[in-house]
Amino acid sequence: MAFWVRLPCFPLFLWLTLCIITRSAAQGGQKPLQEAAQRPNIVFILTDDQDLHMDSLSYMPFLKEHMIDRGLSFRRHYCTVALCCPSRVSMWTGKAAHNTNVTDINPPYGGYPKFVSQGFNGNYLPTWLQQAGYGTYYVGKLFNAQTVKNYNSPHAAGWTGNDFLLDPYTYRYLNATFQRNHDEPVSYEGHYATDVLAGKAHGFLDDALEALQSEGTPFFLTVAPTAPHSDVNIKRDLINGSFTEHSNVQSPPVPAERHQHLFANAVVPRTPNFNPDKPGGASWISRLPKQNQSNVDFNDHFYRSRLRSLQAVDELVHSLVTRLTDAGVLDNTYIVYSTDNGYTIGQHRRQPGKQCAFEQDINVPFIIRGPGVPEAALTDIVTSHTDIAPTFLSLTGASAPADFVLDGQPLPLTRPMLENTVPAGVEAGDSSSTSRSEHVNVEMWGIIMSEGKFGSVLYPNHTYKALRLVGSEYSFLYTVWCSGEHELYDMKVDPFQLNNLYNTDWSARAMLRRGYGEDLINYSIPLAHTVSSSNASIHEEESDTGRYDAGPTLSQLLPRLDALLLVLKSCVGRQCTHPWESLFPGGGVLNLADALNSVFDDFFDTRLEKVSFDRCEKGYIVNSEGPMWDDTYAYGMVDEVAAE
Ligand SMILES: *[C@@H]1O[C@H](CO)[C@@H](O)[C@H](O)[C@H]1NC(C)=O
Ligand SMILES: *[C@@H]1O[C@H](CO)[C@@H](O)[C@H](O)[C@H]1NC(C)=O
Ligand SMILES: *[C@@H]1O[C@H](CO)[C@@H](O)[C@H](O)[C@H]1NC(C)=O
Ligand SMILES: *[C@@H]1O[C@H](CO)[C@@H](O)[C@H](O)[C@H]1NC(C)=O
Ligand SMILES: *[C@@H]1O[C@H](CO)[C@@H](O)[C@H](O)[C@H]1NC(C)=O
Ligand SMILES: *[C@@H]1O[C@H](CO)[C@@H](O)[C@H](O)[C@H]1NC(C)=O
Ligand SMILES: *[C@@H]1O[C@H](CO)[C@@H](O)[C@H](O)[C@H]1NC(C)=O
Repeated sequence: MAFWVRLPCFPLFLWLTLCIITRSAAQGGQKPLQEAAQRPNIVFILTDDQDLHMDSLSYMPFLKEHMIDRGLSFRRHYCTVALCCPSRVSMWTGKAAHNTNVTDINPPYGGYPKFVSQGFNGNYLPTWLQQAGYGTYYVGKLFNAQTVKNYNSPHAAGWTGNDFLLDPYTYRYLNATFQRNHDEPVSYEGHYATDVLAGKAHGFLDDALEALQSEGTPFFLTVAPTAPHSDVNIKRDLINGSFTEHSNVQSPPVPAERHQHLFANAVVPRTPNFNPDKPGGASWISRLPKQNQSNVDFNDHFYRSRLRSLQAVDELVHSLVTRLTDAGVLDNTYIVYSTDNGYTIGQHRRQPGKQCAFEQDINVPFIIRGPGVPEAALTDIVTSHTDIAPTFLSLTGASAPADFVLDGQPLPLTRPMLENTVPAGVEAGDSSSTSRSEHVNVEMWGIIMSEGKFGSVLYPNHTYKALRLVGSEYSFLYTVWCSGEHELYDMKVDPFQLNNLYNTDWSARAMLRRGYGEDLINYSIPLAHTVSSSNASIHEEESDTGRYDAGPTLSQLLPRLDALLLVLKSCVGRQCTHPWESLFPGGGVLNLADALNSVFDDFFDTRLEKVSFDRCEKGYIVNSEGPMWDDTYAYGMVDEVAAE
């Protein structure tokens, strides 16, 4: 039975034209949400390392009451780099990490000093909001390696009021150090960090409400607690580039005393990928030992500690909403809840940590409520952290400077906008429709760290490029590591990513660096059962248009995924949200289904270089990152079209 049901845009020229019209009509779709007399306020609650896949949201009753039941949850929201500082810089600049070049948590490749040296301090979201007349406030962790020594050289710009958590005390739940505006750092030894932060958040909210009421100044307040991040005892000066396994000790997060005894029976959900009998993943993961009972018990304790540490955050959600309600501004305030990256405990036998492209590390909570946003609503539109800055700009009417290129696009937030958002390549219902594509580009450089009693190990050579692709009829993760290894998971049949469809025979690495393994040819992905809304009559009409009747084989699929990743790994601006336009500048191919036309086999098989690395580096060293996309590779640049 045929699988691909999209109407072909190619090679019929009539269709080609139609597809282009559809797409360009779709672009003007994003309008300011409403012409309110008073511009809306935004409160952004940003946790640290919170998971979506281990049920943490279910343990937050106030979050459910005030956010999930009153707002819109994006179930397919992704970070594009699953590590705090790079992820946060992408969030605040709207740029992919390969365009910020803040790719690590510490110098020389990351951390606050790298954010500053890349020229973003004074040219990122809060400064643009200030220029548009917003009061901007921040309390909590901004970036890693913003320390008691460097916080004033220079101060982080763009905040009307700030009270930052500073390293090396950022993750000390009982000895936080905060630094307010241009004051000296203050130690809060013996006080519970999230409660201290809550007091400060309310202080800024009072200031913001005062400025709103007296001068009509709308506000943007970010509240960024450390929870549920592990408690980190940073032993050495990390910001000189000499991070080692002995640089810090990462223990379970510390709950507030009043929450210490909650959830005594909670354990990490035993999903099929939890401490599995059969190892999987890339080589270093496949070598992890199965965890013994004492290890599993400790990790369950680590998990409960996270849930307990989130209770003070949940209370903060409640107290902030209560204050906004009492002040009469809730109806004109967007509240957003998210986290910098996801988290893993025990899945794939991993110790507590993050940084991989596995779903639990990259798919994160993103919930928003506010004027015009539907209540208790869910969407499966694919979105990412690079969309956050564009979204806040669109909500406030602020803008980035004309020469500042944003790699994301605003999220659709109202019911009409959501209803008119169609997957890329699907014919739009009317001219107000907006198309969104189906991919996320995930990247990482350097070492992977793991946490907890059994996890103080650093795994080098963790640099990779990954493509997460979620269409209505397919769902893949494709990863290329700097070591030359590849992973491919068909998540329609393997949602827990246990079966790497790519050749995992390590001895074949040399061959894989330049092409695909012989044994993969003719492998047919078992996708057929995923057809749900397909229509047999359309299939038959399409049988002579070059579509693959039985679904693509890996040898047909992989060159397409690789080509998309080749474009995305160095994409800039619109190219990041519309990468197929680079491959097919003549139009007609808007998604993977379109690209899986056999007329393009030769193009994908022979014209394009494969994604690969020349070396494993700890940062974004362009010369080590193998072939880069070049516009001369595009379809139609030589004479394929004439040949057909
Ligand atoms: C708490 O932090 C301060 C710096 O803010 C430091 O001087 C002190 O030694 C720390 N106390 C503990 C117990 O780590
Ligand atoms: C970084 O600091 C640590 C401890 O403060 C020191 O042992 C190390 O030599 C320093 N490394 C560099 C590259 O300066
Ligand atoms: C369990 O595994 C850990 C980590 O490998 C090891 O340190 C510990 O000794 C093991 N405990 C038992 C009881 O085997
Ligand atoms: C793939 O299929 C073709 C045609 O059925 C066959 O000739 C070829 O030997 C197969 N290749 C592999 C590697 O199995
Ligand atoms: C399939 O096509 C028929 C006629 O072409 C149409 O009536 C029917 O609604 C379609 N079904 C779906 C699920 O699209
Ligand atoms: C990391 O990769 C480099 C080259 O890419 C290699 O020389 C080194 O041995 C690798 N290290 C480990 C621990 O695999
Ligand atoms: C990224 O930053 C590192 C460290 O400063 C530098 O070596 C590298 O060349 C930069 N990469 C790019 C693409 O600018």
